[in-house]
Parts: sequence; C-alpha cells; structure tokens
Amino acid sequence: MKLIKYAIVGGVGALAVAWTFAISTPYWLTPKQEAIVDIQDPELIQKGEYIARAGDCGACHTAPGGKEFAGGLGMQTPLGTIYSTNITPDKKTGIGNYSYSDFERAVRQGVRSDNVHLYPAMPFVSYTVVKDDEIEALYAYFMSKVEPVEQDNQPSTLPWPTNMRWPLAYWQLFFSNPRPFEIAAGTDPVIERGAYLVEGLGHCSACHTPRGLAYQEKAVKEDPKGLFLSGSVLEGWYAKNLRDQDTGLSTWTEDEIVTFLKTGRNDRTAAFGSMADVVQHSTQYLLEDDLRAIARFLKSLPPSEGRKQKWEPKEDITTAALNDGNLNAPGAMSYVEHCAICHRNDGRGAPRIYPALADNSIVFADDPSSLIQITLAGGRTPDTPSDIMAFTMPGFAHLPNWQLAEILNFIRNGWGNHGSEIKDADIARMRREIEHKPQHYVPEIKQ
Ligand code: HEC
Ligand code: HEC
Ligand code: HEC
Repeated sequence: MKLIKYAIVGGVGALAVAWTFAISTPYWLTPKQEAIVDIQDPELIQKGEYIARAGDCGACHTAPGGKEFAGGLGMQTPLGTIYSTNITPDKKTGIGNYSYSDFERAVRQGVRSDNVHLYPAMPFVSYTVVKDDEIEALYAYFMSKVEPVEQDNQPSTLPWPTNMRWPLAYWQLFFSNPRPFEIAAGTDPVIERGAYLVEGLGHCSACHTPRGLAYQEKAVKEDPKGLFLSGSVLEGWYAKNLRDQDTGLSTWTEDEIVTFLKTGRNDRTAAFGSMADVVQHSTQYLLEDDLRAIARFLKSLPPSEGRKQKWEPKEDITTAALNDGNLNAPGAMSYVEHCAICHRNDGRGAPRIYPALADNSIVFADDPSSLIQITLAGGRTPDTPSDIMAFTMPGFAHLPNWQLAEILNFIRNGWGNHGSEIKDADIARMRREIEHKPQHYVPEIKQ
C-alpha cells in the first residue's frame, strides 16, 4: 500500500518537475531579441512583402474563401486538425499587440507572445535560419501593410493529452534548436543563395523530407545520407524526392525547374495538390535569379544513400498497340475511354496543357499516393500570369476501385514506365483519407 502511495507521489512529483521545467523554457531557451524596426519605412515594407511571399505565409494563414492572413486553414496531422491562426495586425484577435521581439520569437523560435509553444505545423524549424534583416522587414510588412481582420482563432481537434502544449517544449528541445544558416566555405554563391531559400523561407523540407516517429523532419538541411528533401507524404500527396537522382530531378534541366516554379508547368508536368498552392502563393512571385538559385542548389544535391543506379525507361509498345486499336491489355480500354482524350495514346499529353504520363516519375514513383489522389480527386493547374488559362482534370471517384487500379497499373507500366503494382486496397485507403480531409474555418460574413 505504502509503495503505491510513494509511486503516485513520485509520479506526480516527476510530472510537476517536467511541467515546471517545460513552462520555464521560454524564458531561457528562447530569449527575446530586441531590435528597433521602423515599420513605416516603405522600402522595408516592400522587402517584407517579398519575404512573406518567399515564406509562403499566405498559403497557410489564409483559409480558402477566407480573408487574407486571418487564419482558419485546417491542417491534417495524424492525431487531429490544427488550425492556422490570425496573423493580421488586429489587436483583439490577431498579432496587433506583438512587439518585434514577440514576432521574431514566434516565427524563428516557435513560441507565442504568451509564452505558449507552437505546434511544428508552423514551420519555425525552417524559418529559424532566416536572417535578422528579413525578419525585421516581415514585421514591418505585417504591421503596416496587411489589413487587420477581426476573426477568432479555432482550437485544434487534437484529443487529450496531445492537446496540452507544455510537452511541446520537449519536442522543441530535441528537434528544433535555433541554428544559424551555415554552408561549406567556398560554395558557389548562387548555390548558397538557393540553399538558404530552400532550407529557410521556402521550407521545402516541411513537405519534401521524410518525418520520423515524433513527426520531426529526419534532416533539416543537407546531410551525408541524403535524407534532406528525399520525399515524403503529407495529406495524401507524395511530395517527391527533389535530389538530383535516378527518378528525381536528374532528368530535369535547370531551366525546367525554374519554369515549373515560375508557372506551375513545364513540358513534362503540371504542379498539383499542395505543390499547386506553393506555386500559386509563393514561387511564382520570386525573382528569376532566386528561382535559378533554387534550381541550381537542387541540381547540386547528390543521390540519397543507396540510390546510385540509373532508372532506364523500357521499350514503348503501348503507343503502337493503342494506335492500332489493340486494347487487350488490362486497363487499356478504360484508359482510352477515360484518359486518352487529354493524355493521348502516346502518353505525351499536350505540352503545357495536359501533362505527360509517359516518362513522368509521378506516375511510376515508388509511393503512388499522388497518382491515386489526383486520379480520384482531379486537379487544376495553378493560375499564374504567364498562363492565363488554367486547365482542369476531372476526378474519377465514380469508377470502382478495381477499374481505377487497372487504369493506374496500365499507365504505371505503359510506354517506357515501370513501377510496382497498385492494389484495390490502396485506392480504398486513399478514398478514406480524402473523406477525412480537414474542414477549414471561414466565418460567415456579418450583415
Ligand atoms: C505550413 C503552414 C504555415 C506557414 C507556411 C506559416 N505558418 Fe505561421 N502558423 C501556422 C500554424 C498552424 C500556426 C498555429 C500553431 C499553433 O497554434 O501552435 C502558426 C502560428 C503563427 C504565429 C503565432 C501567432 C499566434 O497567435 O498563434 C505567427 C506570428 C506566425 N504563424 C507567423 C507566420 C509568418 C510570418 C509566416 C511566413 C514567414 C508563417 N507564419 C508561415 C502555420 C504556418
Ligand atoms: C506544402 C507542401 C510542399 C511544399 C512546402 C513544397 N512542395 Fe514541392 N511538391 C509538393 C508535392 C505534393 C509535389 C508533388 C506534386 C507535383 O509534382 O506538383 C511537389 C513537387 C515538386 C516538384 C516536382 C518534382 C518532380 O520530380 O515532379 C518540384 C521541383 C518541387 N516540388 C519543388 C519545391 C521547392 C523548390 C519547394 C520550396 C520552395 C517546394 N517544392 C515546397 C509539396 C510541397
Ligand atoms: C479533360 C482532360 C483530362 C482527362 C480526361 C484526364 N486528365 Fe489527367 N490531367 C489533366 C490536367 C489538366 C492535369 C494537370 C492537373 C493539375 O495540375 O492539377 C492532369 C494531371 C494528371 C496527372 C498528374 C501528372 C502531372 O505530372 O501533373 C495524372 C497522373 C493524371 N492526370 C492521370 C489521369 C488519368 C489516369 C486519367 C483517366 C482516368 C486522366 N488523367 C484523365 C487533364 C485530364
């Protein structure tokens, strides 16, 4: 009896110590960094607007159909939905009362002005390398140029105990210590600029780097194993491996990467899913020099450990068969009926209108999530001024799982493509995932 009592008292005591330690970390681990920022300086404000684009703040902090930067975008995590918050300068519901040091600490160190730790859904793990002058410019932009909007923040739907925030102090202690941007001396300055943008503001790693059990990115910058940017799945979209390796960007030229980021399309593919949002809100606004720097940095990344072999396309017997009306292969008939009108018999589509399926690594990627999701849900190319016309792909959720699996296996192994088999169960799993997508919060307009 006594032993149990001691155990309970000890356990409660240990928890109390852990809690006390956690809530004290904001005071000594994430000190406030003061600076005098002239928030009226037009040049600083303009620079801040560009930084906000490069950091893609708008994509997460704006709900579809909602006011800009007023928050409410639901983000899916394995445990529940987290909502982005109102970062307009409204004093009641937004960040209108944030001092520069409050702002700096939230963006680079993941701690809110009331000393509460933020979820890593806010990519402070990447933003931590952003330089002081850029954070100052961002602050000036948010305080002076962004419209204040009164809109309350939504609580997350995470269940107890994962909705308690103090354990996040430990997460941050292990996985997000503030670090400066560093790169090997003598690195080409263009590559250095690209690395800085990709690792920091662009937070490309938040989607493109695999995550560990604690939801941490397995690498936050270039690492010897090549885990950084080696591909990951988020909200059912496979954000591809961006390293210059066999089925990755080794087959793209630097110009093709620049065009893709600028316009959301190139002759081989079109951005879709969450990458369409990245192009729409962020990369299309970046200067040509910055896009080139990003492309050159990506092309400089060696293949991940164990991925040295070259992927070779197989011989194309599909085009001739389809042109001759030979539809005996499983899925061929359905492909002709549902897909070929846009993607064509030769699987080449129409450059910049309908993306190619032949030789397209999205189609034969090891992880077929993106392939399955876009076929079920459809897609729309991002709007950019360089392409006035956006093209849509209808969704095919009305077709049964076996037929979709057949079509996808046909295109995955048609033309020069070869990839592993997709099963009916894979399609069923993605249907469930799409059904559970988070709802966004957009308040009704008050009369
Ligand atoms: C990938 C999505 C994402 C991006 C990109 C993003 N944020 Fe956030 N941000 C969030 C989420 C989600 C929260 C709320 C986290 C929480 O409640 O713990 C948040 C919280 C914040 C907060 C804390 C304010 C508060 O009261 O909760 C600030 C300030 C902030 N973000 C500023 C920015 C700025 C500036 C940028 C661009 C440089 C940016 N965010 C980009 C998702 C994002
Ligand atoms: C919100 C998640 C997200 C972020 C952030 C993100 N991406 Fe992506 N990216 C994706 C997804 C999903 C795909 C696959 C869909 C597609 O190809 O359009 C993708 C595809 C790509 C592709 C095409 C690769 C190929 O082989 O087809 C490139 C290039 C790319 N991203 C570059 C970037 C860069 C550079 C950044 C940072 C500036 C970035 N991405 C940030 C989600 C993201
Ligand atoms: C009406 C024309 C049309 C039809 C029919 C169509 N697609 Fe598409 N498809 C598109 C467009 C446009 C995109 C680009 C969408 C985007 O960027 O979000 C696309 C994109 C894709 C992609 C992503 C490729 C990439 O690199 O962006 C795949 C995979 C795909 N379609 C497969 C299919 C399959 C399988 C079918 C038949 C079941 C089909 N499509 C039917 C127009 C079509």
